[in-house]
Amino acid sequence: MAIPFVIEKIPFEHSAEQHQTIGAPKLAHQFSLRITELPSATARPAAPVSLAALGGVAQLIAHDFRHHLCTVGANAEFLVSRTMDSANREELLDEIRAAIECMTEQLDSLLLFTRTGCNLQPRRQSLNLILERAIRMARAHPDAHHVEISSNDMPFLEASVDGLRLCSAIFNLLLNACQAAKTTPGMKTVDIVLNQNRQYIFIRVLDRGPGVPHAIRNTLFQPFVKAEGGSGTGLGLTIARCIAREHGGEVCLEESRPGKTVFVLKLSKRALKALSDMPNSASIA
Ligand SMILES: Nc1ncnc2c1ncn2[C@@H]1O[C@H](COP(=O)(O)OP(=O)(O)O)[C@@H](O)[C@H]1O
Ligand SMILES: [Mg+2]
Repeated sequence: MAIPFVIEKIPFEHSAEQHQTIGAPKLAHQFSLRITELPSATARPAAPVSLAALGGVAQLIAHDFRHHLCTVGANAEFLVSRTMDSANREELLDEIRAAIECMTEQLDSLLLFTRTGCNLQPRRQSLNLILERAIRMARAHPDAHHVEISSNDMPFLEASVDGLRLCSAIFNLLLNACQAAKTTPGMKTVDIVLNQNRQYIFIRVLDRGPGVPHAIRNTLFQPFVKAEGGSGTGLGLTIARCIAREHGGEVCLEESRPGKTVFVLKLSKRALKALSDMPNSASIA
């Protein structure tokens, strides 16, 4: 079937000042993609995989691997250092299995990308299941311990998305929210809300942390931007936005003040429909 849209890279918007501080301006170009309508209803042939494109996908995967390995390491430490009942032990082992499964899937997707040049593997699936998986992954991360992640009253929604990639974007938003929630006294809760209107699907992640520091609000989605003294890589939001854009969507900071921060991942139903019309590429044998 013909594709009325094309997914293409667009230059990343960043200032000359940022160029100097990140010291890796080339990276920026690997992170900005958009879906645009083609004038004619014909698809462009798939381009051969360039080293730069491969580097971009590898960056994405490496960032997630750090988080998964963090979960595996922390759970392994728990297992050897604490006496615990078999139910708790099984739970920790399950989290390790889930992290390994996710890393394996991500390596598979990298291999598939090198073979086919196809970055996204869209398939019609339940968004609720993707959210549940992202929540499970976030809960297993040491930074989410003692944080309650709640997801009440979600409508059942299906769409044509790359579940692995979308899960990664949502996981990054959830983890940031948990890290922010952790810094506040009292109840530490994070909410994730899924809803829709006629044109869009919205996934909102809300925390009651201190808010995004003003100094980085304007550059938040650029590579390597993080709060002063922050321990991360400053790539999580860049990756989340990149994945949303690959789906023809967007990630934005909707609101942020002490006690309430909301990030929204918005997916255009029209662009998702275009993705669902893409011919399915080869799968890993
Ligand atoms: N929910 C949030 N509340 C407060 N600050 C946030 C939140 N989400 C992100 N940030 C800020 O944005 C910075 C960049 O986040 P991110 O791109 O995910 O980087 P990293 O990969 O290091 O986590 C973080 O260092 C943090 O200061
Ligand atoms: Mg982060």
